[in-house]
Amino acid sequence: MDTRPFLIVAIDGGAASGKSSTARALSARFHLLHVDTGSFYRAVTAVLLRRGIGATDAARIEAEVAGLRLSTHIAGRSAGMEINGEMIPDAEIRGAAVNGAVSHVAALPAVRAALLAYQRGQEGVARAGGFRGLVMEGRDIGSVIFPSAPCRFFLHADPAERARRRAQEGGQDAIAVRDQLDSSRKAAPLACPEGAVAVDTTHHNLEEVVALLSRPIAEHLGV
Ligand code: DC
Repeated sequence: MDTRPFLIVAIDGGAASGKSSTARALSARFHLLHVDTGSFYRAVTAVLLRRGIGATDAARIEAEVAGLRLSTHIAGRSAGMEINGEMIPDAEIRGAAVNGAVSHVAALPAVRAALLAYQRGQEGVARAGGFRGLVMEGRDIGSVIFPSAPCRFFLHADPAERARRRAQEGGQDAIAVRDQLDSSRKAAPLACPEGAVAVDTTHHNLEEVVALLSRPIAEHLGV
């Protein structure tokens, strides 16, 4: 039996707060499965849009999401969500249509409920894949999905800096509008989870943020 510690790291934060780059770097450094839950909400939204369902049509969305078959495809150190056996292409889930709709879809309790068990199931995926843990990023990971995770972080940055980063990535994304929707919804709103470590990344580069988060992770893993 493998007796080495297995660690769950939760990283929450707003759009373009630095979550993804940080999570990817930590995944590489500590051999953790990287799970980007925003991509799950994006993939569900893309499938709904393909089916001609509007982002605010709660009744139809509720009926559709209950019938989606979700599975995981691991590529490198990242977990991708397949819907009915298909990985939705990155260009589609990061495109303008999904950017504009995803916060509305993610605000629906039926959608969050449909993804809850799947997200928690990533722990089993990571264990089976021989990872030393998982690093999961999103909006409610430290509050709802894994509230007892030993390492929970909340990243934030000034709006102007976040807009600059997103523009640098070449993305067109109204991040302030999405954050407003994500923070004001009733179901699992974006907020710093109680007891999580809040990190302001405005004046810190990626290496500095990764170094900061690495300390407690290394301690928990005993490396
Ligand atoms: O991280 P992202 O910007 O790719 O996330 C896309 C959207 O998904 C975001 O506007 C809010 C939603 N989301 C969520 O509600 N809960 C999560 N755990 C992750 C993302």
